[in-house]
Amino acid sequence: MDNIILIGFMGTGKSTVSECLSRMYAMRIVEMDQVIAEREGMSIPEIFAAYGEEYFRNLETRLLVEAQSERNTVISCGGGAVLRERNVAEMKKNGKVVLLTASPEVVYERVKDSDDRPVLNGRKNVKEIADLMEQRREKYEAAADLVIHTDHKTAPEICEELIRRLKRMEE
Ligand code: S3P
Repeated sequence: MDNIILIGFMGTGKSTVSECLSRMYAMRIVEMDQVIAEREGMSIPEIFAAYGEEYFRNLETRLLVEAQSERNTVISCGGGAVLRERNVAEMKKNGKVVLLTASPEVVYERVKDSDDRPVLNGRKNVKEIADLMEQRREKYEAAADLVIHTDHKTAPEICEELIRRLKRMEE
């Protein structure tokens, strides 16, 4: 299978869906945040604090270029990877770009107990999540080949829908 690039706001289920795709369709996973943290020997908040967002986005670009040699792989992008035009161009060379969406309320429920997302520091509430989502919406939508809404769906349901719709696109 071609690579699948999962994009979407924080808390839309990219990591969960990647794991599920990997189990159901024997795909490899590149979890971008995890690879970056491992390579730098630092957590994502530490990288942001020490070197800033621009540095982090450069690491994302480099990893997206590297991932082009992969096949049968799910590339799970950090929520902000689409903010840079170059990243979107590199994603498109990797395979099909799938956007996961969720309502601000659902995102809030999923992110409220974790502190590993520096972008949400001090704005972890439904209103500010909705605002940031709206600011980014155009970029997400422009990057996506396919959009999947995830509210009230289980991970296996999302995976099945994703594969079914990708196959239909290829017909
Ligand atoms: C970010 C999303 C995070 C992570 C970093 C920045 C963003 O990834 O890459 O904290 O700008 O939206 P997740 O979407 O996996 O939480």
